Amino acid sequence: MGGVLHVYKKLEFKITKEIEPRFGKLLVFKKRLKLMIKYQIEKELSIGEFTEVLINSTLGERRPVSEPDRIAKMLEHGNLIITARHNEKLVGVARSLTDFLYCTYLSDLAIDEKYQKQGIGKELIRQTKLASPKAKLILLSAPKAVHYYPKIGLKQWEQCYVLDHVEDLK
Ligand SMILES: CC(C)(COP(=O)(O)OP(=O)(O)OC[C@H]1O[C@@H](n2cnc3c(N)ncnc32)[C@H](O)[C@@H]1OP(=O)(O)O)[C@@H](O)C(=O)NCCC(=O)NCCS
Repeated sequence: MGGVLHVYKKLEFKITKEIEPRFGKLLVFKKRLKLMIKYQIEKELSIGEFTEVLINSTLGERRPVSEPDRIAKMLEHGNLIITARHNEKLVGVARSLTDFLYCTYLSDLAIDEKYQKQGIGKELIRQTKLASPKAKLILLSAPKAVHYYPKIGLKQWEQCYVLDHVEDLK
């Protein structure tokens, strides 16, 4: 595992029930607790853990999770992999390819569904950018995340093109 980049604290709730002494009424309290998420660059992320978080986030629907050889190459050649762990459990990942100075392509951003909407995705993007501050961070949004990126401050780039098959070249 790589060095710890940052420890991020986010609040979660513990629900307790107590009888109100004067009225004998049952009251429900929501107490805020601190959830510690550890962010770090990891050079040796395992195929199993990466695959699991892709599936647990739903991004697995759009990634080759049933092809471990491709997943292995994605991990081998992704040169900036930042993880989010809760009690060592992998709950989020940002896998990028970067030259660290000109461009960073953030290929896979995936947060376990149980941990979504708690700021982990945004923090992983922040850590990715901090690791390559001069490089432009570029990504293609999955359909489910098209409203997410503008919301957290990314600019839509209309002049973006992709080539899926070489036969498509005219
Ligand atoms: C999309 C995803 C990466 C967002 O990460 P996250 O940790 O859940 O989101 P954050 O906590 O950083 O969200 C920040 C804000 O955006 C909102 N948000 C989160 N997901 C959103 C979505 N899909 N659409 C619109 N807004 C969204 C949050 O509610 C939060 O708003 P708030 O600050 O008003 O509370 C994550 O939900 C995920 O892994 N989704 C499934 C896989 C996927 O689509 N990945 C993207 C591949 S390109």
